[in-house]
Amino acid sequence: MNKRRALVTGGAGFVGSHLCDALLADGYSVVVADNLLTGRRSNLEHLRTDTRLEFVQQDVSEPFDFGPVDYVFHFASPASPVDYSAHGIPTLKVGSLGTFHSLDVARKYGAGFLLASTSECYGDPLEHPQKETYWGHVNPIGPRSVYDEAKRFAEAVTMAYLRYHQVNTHIVRIFNTYGPRMQINDGRVIPNFMRQAMRGEGLTIYGDGSQTRSFCYVSDEVEGILRLSRSDEHTPVNIGNPNEFTILECAQEVLAVTGSKSRLSHEPLPQDDPKQRRPDISKAKQLLGWEPKINLKTGLKMSLDYFRQAVGADKSSRT
Ligand SMILES: NC(=O)c1ccc[n+]([C@@H]2O[C@H](COP(=O)([O-])OP(=O)(O)OC[C@H]3O[C@@H](n4cnc5c(N)ncnc54)[C@H](O)[C@@H]3O)[C@@H](O)[C@H]2O)c1
Repeated sequence: MNKRRALVTGGAGFVGSHLCDALLADGYSVVVADNLLTGRRSNLEHLRTDTRLEFVQQDVSEPFDFGPVDYVFHFASPASPVDYSAHGIPTLKVGSLGTFHSLDVARKYGAGFLLASTSECYGDPLEHPQKETYWGHVNPIGPRSVYDEAKRFAEAVTMAYLRYHQVNTHIVRIFNTYGPRMQINDGRVIPNFMRQAMRGEGLTIYGDGSQTRSFCYVSDEVEGILRLSRSDEHTPVNIGNPNEFTILECAQEVLAVTGSKSRLSHEPLPQDDPKQRRPDISKAKQLLGWEPKINLKTGLKMSLDYFRQAVGADKSSRT
């Protein structure tokens, strides 16, 4: 019988909960450590009767130990600009102290370790598309620094545990990922546009909308993460969708998929907002045989039911 046990920090969040689904499907039992700062128990509601899933409400910036595990996936961290701006110090703590504590668990039990890092490590990049060898262009004291620098530090700690303690570590640099279970009010592009389109409100375009993003559907992202976790690669690997869209094009896709008649509404560009963001995924292709399969239109269609229900529930909770 397969008795592998994985620990997922941040497993009640958007990506973490999909990762839990994939790990359970792969035969793992899973313990989730999450303090519910930005995540929700409802993201794991469909697993409530699955006895292989254990949920522990735990701030991983404090030391913790839930017994032997074979793998640690460290996903805990506020992730959207709205969330990490509201929780700047907890974001710095979970990227630093939380990463130490998660690595200590992996070290103690001889477990594999995977850090959820981010394309934000590249900051407002001067190289395009971004390869893993690019060191980034990050403002260390700007409003986004609580997140960007926490993740850069987390990568440094992870590499140090590989070099000094021989922990079998992996680092994924996740690029914009979307899909069901995202919070609809967290300020990220897709939930923002979906919510505004479904309510018939103006779709907010920051600046002139010519800045680009690439969007990866969550099942593609999780597949790449799992392949990396099983690989021998220890340096960071980009996992994201290289198809680049301007924000204006993305707004048009959302209008088409939702059938909404909403207009566009322009607002000033926030400070340090990256102008271009697109992964070079040649490393993932070559090492992991991975590339995304789901294009933006298909992914938006696959997310429609979730966003309809979430926007409806949000409306009713406000009345
Ligand atoms: N979604 C993306 O596009 C994206 C892009 C790049 C990187 N990432 C990374 O992936 C991970 C998951 O992101 P997400 O989009 O699912 O965000 P999310 O906010 O939905 O999930 C993060 C989870 O971490 C939990 N958490 C936060 N601080 C914690 C702490 N101190 N102790 C325990 N739990 C804590 C939250 O409650 C939440 O459940 C994050 O590390 C994020 O930086 C995500």
